[in-house]
Amino acid sequence: MAKTIIVSNRLPVSLQHKFGKFEFKPSAGGLATGLGSIYKEGDNIWIGWPGNDVEDPGQRQEVAEELQKLKMAPVFLSKEDVELYYEGFSNDTIWPAFHYFTQYINYHDEYYEAYKRVNRKFCDAILEKADPEDTIWVHDYQLLLLPMMLREALPKSTIAFFQHIPFPSYEIIRMLPWRREILEGMVGADLIGFHTYDDMRHFLSAVGRLLGLSNESGYIQADNRLVNVDSFPMGIDYGKFSKAATSKKTLKNIKKFKEQLGDQKLLLTIDRLDYSKGIPQRIKAFDRLLEEHPDFHGKVSMIMVVVPSRAKVKTYQELKEEIDTLVGRINSRFSTLNWVPVHYFYRSFPFDELSAFYAMSDIALVTPLRDGMNLVCKEFVASKTDKKGVLILSEMAGASKELVDALLVNPNNLEGMKDSIMQALTMPEEEQVQKIGTMQASLQKYDIFQWVKVFMDRLANVKGKQKELESKAIDKSLVKELKNKFQSAKAPILLLDYDGTLVGFQGRPEDAFPDAELKHLIAELSGKCQIVVISGRDKETLGKWFEGQKVDMIAEHGVWLKERGDDDWTLYAAIDDSWKEDIRQVMDYYVLRTPGAFIEEKHHSLVWHYRKVESGLGDLRMRELFSHLKYMARGHNLQVLEGNMVLEIKRPDINKGRAATAFMKGKEYDFIMALGDDWTDEDTFKAMPKDSYTIRVGFAYTQANYNIKSPTEVRKLLKELMED
Ligand code: UDP
Ligand code: G6P
Repeated sequence: MAKTIIVSNRLPVSLQHKFGKFEFKPSAGGLATGLGSIYKEGDNIWIGWPGNDVEDPGQRQEVAEELQKLKMAPVFLSKEDVELYYEGFSNDTIWPAFHYFTQYINYHDEYYEAYKRVNRKFCDAILEKADPEDTIWVHDYQLLLLPMMLREALPKSTIAFFQHIPFPSYEIIRMLPWRREILEGMVGADLIGFHTYDDMRHFLSAVGRLLGLSNESGYIQADNRLVNVDSFPMGIDYGKFSKAATSKKTLKNIKKFKEQLGDQKLLLTIDRLDYSKGIPQRIKAFDRLLEEHPDFHGKVSMIMVVVPSRAKVKTYQELKEEIDTLVGRINSRFSTLNWVPVHYFYRSFPFDELSAFYAMSDIALVTPLRDGMNLVCKEFVASKTDKKGVLILSEMAGASKELVDALLVNPNNLEGMKDSIMQALTMPEEEQVQKIGTMQASLQKYDIFQWVKVFMDRLANVKGKQKELESKAIDKSLVKELKNKFQSAKAPILLLDYDGTLVGFQGRPEDAFPDAELKHLIAELSGKCQIVVISGRDKETLGKWFEGQKVDMIAEHGVWLKERGDDDWTLYAAIDDSWKEDIRQVMDYYVLRTPGAFIEEKHHSLVWHYRKVESGLGDLRMRELFSHLKYMARGHNLQVLEGNMVLEIKRPDINKGRAATAFMKGKEYDFIMALGDDWTDEDTFKAMPKDSYTIRVGFAYTQANYNIKSPTEVRKLLKELMED
């Protein structure tokens, strides 16, 4: 049976070495707790690092056997791996970069080398367990290179990737010397998921700018594989938290804790020790509140759980010192013999104690400076079975996009945070119930099981789309069929687009002239069939480039025709170019504002080129111009079309399809093949008789019957048609 292999750096359990024996303890952190409910189904398995070093082969074997019983398999890391890959590249390079802490980024080649090496280690461990029909689901920033490594080893397999931390803007990604490799690594997956739309948008922009891969509604054409990118906000195991909140164990804990704390309003904060969590800012805001409102002394206290994390990384150690100092300061300043403002715990808690904290606290203060999602805030809301409580949530947490009924704060604004705590402390109960109730409804509906289902359904959908495209790819048997039919035909015709079909794109359009190989190929082919070059190019260029060849030419998408043997071009469609003046003025304005852009004037159209414009700027200006021209086009009855790095405005009644139909009218052909690479060729494909062969270059959605990879493959195919 096909299984799902979940892969993450850390397993959901961590190995502890106690009194000469191994024990497993649940791991903290969003990923481990979030997916903890999933991997136990069917034959699924979770592969990852057990979180402690085990050098002895006998002990490794023992650990592997124990893990197998828990449906897990270990990837053992050496001390050096942990230092350079985990503490180094993962948590001292990527983590700060992706959370916008650029001042903390450490750039070391040896970190990156170790990162690559350990990603390879993961790849090998997966390959040992994976069957071809399995789904491999890779998680998070420690394994960004893994999807492509897996793809190279298992080209046909189903690979998904989910990133649990933010994906930053292009401005940050470009700072990393290894930016291309990282993106290429991720693009090995079939489906790439992020928590929020912004993360997804940033990723698509980086892939476009750094790898030159554009996207259409989140679909990237990587090589000849379709890759989907989308946002899937992760939910929690809602039922588990809401049920636990009223369980016997939790109620017992609540009773015990409340007796110890006395009658207090409780502010709860729970995080891993991390500079992205905004812990010092939060203490400062509470400090300010106590300073300005002595009436709250003795009546409010903060329960602050800080879970130890990445303790060997210097920035984390420094943060620990800062928090210790701040807590010491606030407590020493305001404490009385029977009241402490901050109850500070630097350790993790078992589930039923966490549940008690959630259920008994009046306010949760979740104020990260940056967080991919943040599950703590969701767990708090789910635990409020009586719906009484207030969530204060940072706008910088992915969860804030969903939990809009929280009191949203900017974590850098101490005054604003202090005011929100005040507002929470004095919020009427009905308002609390209404807000928590609304948030609960959405968390309950979109829980972790729904999240997995939606993600997996999409993955299946992407694989389906890939298959559909693949079935249209030209294979050996089709080449054989084409060859047989071509060679036995009495009147064969080929309709060939030029740019992107017979030749690849160049920086300057005039550099894409026919090379010797192409000239030779056309000369040979034209001895065996009729060839119509049907292009958007102007007639002068086309005429010059195919001078002396026995081909028919249709220029400017159907405005001009020159048949074999004719001396001159004839007008195929009447021209009225009185509209050009107005449009040219607008286009000129966009040329002036866009270095590298230029206008090409054709008889029936104006084309705005942006191939040489800095990527990003080109797209941006093209979008602006597009809407500007669309507005103007209505008045002139014109059509604006987006092409390959061009925007073209023209009369709608002129297109390659009409021209091709007119050309073929009254003639009999027994083999028709049309090749093209963009939307202008779609008109040709649509116009062809049913039994024609229509082929689109590139693996885009098309009206054509088949796809072929590139102009190089086109030339190969054309040669093969003539071979014995
Ligand atoms: N958590 C835990 N033990 C603790 C404190 C917290 O397992 O003592 C869990 C908590 O329930 C939550 C996760 O750690 O599910 C933290 O996830 P979050 O997304 O909020 O932050 P991350 O650690 O992923 O940055
Ligand atoms: C975040 C990351 C996880 C990571 C967790 C705990 O949730 O997204 O990938 O496992 O923090 O961090 P740690 O370094 O202890 O694994």
